[in-house]
Amino acid sequence: MNAVLSPSAGSTAPSWVKNQKLIGWVDDITRLTEPEQVVWCDGSDAEYDRLCALMVVGGTMRPLNAAKRPNSFLALSDPSDVARVEDRTFICSEQKEDAGPTNHWIAPAEMRNTLDDLFTGSMRGRTMYVVAFSMGPLGSPIAHIGVELSDSPYVAVNMQLMTRMGRAVYDVLGSNGHFVPCVHSVGKPLGVGEKDVAWPCNATKYIVHFPETREIWSYGSGYGGNALLGKKCFALRIASTMGRDEGWLAEHMLILGVENPQGVKHYVAAAFPSACGKTNFAMLIPPKGFEGWKVTTIGDDIAWIKPGSDGKLYAINPEAGYFGVAPGTNEKTNFNCMASMRSNTLFTNVALTDDGDVWWEGLTKEAPAHLIDWQGKDWTPAIARETGAKAAHPNARFTVAATQNPVLDADWDNPAGVPISAFIFGGRRSTTVPLVTEARNWVEGVYMAATMGSETTAAAAGQQGIVRRDPFAMLPFCGYNMADYFGHWLTLGDKLQASGSKLPAIFTVNWFRTDADGKFVWPGFGENMRVLKWMLDRIDGKANGVEHIFGVTPRYEDLSWDGADFTRAQFDTITSIDTAAWRAEIELHTELFTKLAHHLPQALSEVKEQLANRLAA
Ligand code: GTP
Ligand code: SPV
Ligand code: MN
Repeated sequence: MNAVLSPSAGSTAPSWVKNQKLIGWVDDITRLTEPEQVVWCDGSDAEYDRLCALMVVGGTMRPLNAAKRPNSFLALSDPSDVARVEDRTFICSEQKEDAGPTNHWIAPAEMRNTLDDLFTGSMRGRTMYVVAFSMGPLGSPIAHIGVELSDSPYVAVNMQLMTRMGRAVYDVLGSNGHFVPCVHSVGKPLGVGEKDVAWPCNATKYIVHFPETREIWSYGSGYGGNALLGKKCFALRIASTMGRDEGWLAEHMLILGVENPQGVKHYVAAAFPSACGKTNFAMLIPPKGFEGWKVTTIGDDIAWIKPGSDGKLYAINPEAGYFGVAPGTNEKTNFNCMASMRSNTLFTNVALTDDGDVWWEGLTKEAPAHLIDWQGKDWTPAIARETGAKAAHPNARFTVAATQNPVLDADWDNPAGVPISAFIFGGRRSTTVPLVTEARNWVEGVYMAATMGSETTAAAAGQQGIVRRDPFAMLPFCGYNMADYFGHWLTLGDKLQASGSKLPAIFTVNWFRTDADGKFVWPGFGENMRVLKWMLDRIDGKANGVEHIFGVTPRYEDLSWDGADFTRAQFDTITSIDTAAWRAEIELHTELFTKLAHHLPQALSEVKEQLANRLAA
């Protein structure tokens, strides 16, 4: 433990902290929140072990059976604190219009008053951890530093797995380096002698961003996206505004490398909404018939993408770990993910087996005879049949360092990033949207991404399975006016095109069309390689397709079916275009564009008009 001190003593930061601005800010927040002590995290293994041990004693985490799952822990959250809270997420720009119609906005001055009240004494009886982290490779010109002050040791250990965190960051920060200040409190101060609960949180929640001053304040939740502030808050909401101002992109995208048997390698970036398949696609294992193909992971959730001097777009993964969905993951659907979490993993809201290991729906065909479910209750298949109780919460998650991934790309940590050949956008749609479509040009691709719909998932609080527009899979994550964000994509395309470079191709996909029984028709997972290969072949001018009402789509014979038993009839059910359904779909595009009308780029309205005309014909 480093420099444990009482706030009244004033901050004596460890000798390796040289940044006076940081020290002053830590003092200010200490005075405001009144923690019992302040700990400057150094990011060491010893510190990680100590904090985990502390949480085991406090009841927040339980160690798993070391013979089955070495150095791994399970945390069960408060049942009310299991997902991101989009309704409680605010973009507090000076002008409401800069937050735009898709974000919740409160005037900065008003929000500062609210936060002042909420955070006053909010850390009483707790330890405040000072967590310095780098989003992106340490010291790289594209990386940015943040410092999160949090009264949650769970946050501190998760941040250690998810980011480059600790001592080394202070060396980069130096005496006057810049950092994004992030304040986080679970919002449950402890009275003198009061016993803590296993998962402290508060029914009142605020996830607040000040884009102009680049600050983040989070109150009331300990859950991932609400509390690990380097992730959605910084690397997407704040970073997207930095990208707007500086000419780059911060996206809710995985990045993967794909190499063919001849050794030709491409990198693609894909945006799917939360719990719609990014982690799985990023770790894909090519199926039978694709011998000699290799897929490697750069990142599974967030991409920072910048134009290089050669006119290509280069992407980095600002994160250093995965905070992924557990349910549905198994040795068959995602072997590499299972391998990643064989040890050194933190699990949240999965079920506990009688032999001290973890389980979740979809892990094995047969559920174990008895489990402790994510709410700490006895669970049996009979109870589940009777009450519908899930053993794991549908948004149960694992946290692992990227270095645990057996197919981690050799360049995952390369500060220069990797060149992007294609962008893929995909929603979760049981109807209407075909398996894959290629945009005929950049503007059409931006239109397809902008109007993407997806069924809501358990990753966010609220109703599930409702189709909503989720432009670029960024609806919950764009830190500014969504229409301006569309404009930013168009402008970037124009600039690159003007410089004479070849723009990445743009595709949309949908793995989730269902049959009359509600079953997924497309086998998905590794089989998605067939679609990925078609995309790469299109880029290289080697694959055929046909134009439909929008873009280009493969016929059955245009995909490789080696080793598959997917029939032409099945293919037809997931690629058919129902014009009546598409007319209804366009109405939803219109609804979105009406909402965004004030800043909406004209070019997108034009694409919509052409699409509507084709549908009417
Ligand atoms: P976030 O971490 O929330 O941003 O999600 P993500 O996009 O990384 O989603 P993830 O890959 O974790 O997948 C979420 C759920 O979708 C899991 O239950 C997966 O098993 C399931 N899934 C992923 N890919 C496929 C697929 O190709 N087909 C089907 N049917 N399900 C899939
Ligand atoms: C998502 O919801 O898109 C996630 C998980 O990746 S969280 O970090 O909780 O936002
Ligand atoms: Mn995500």
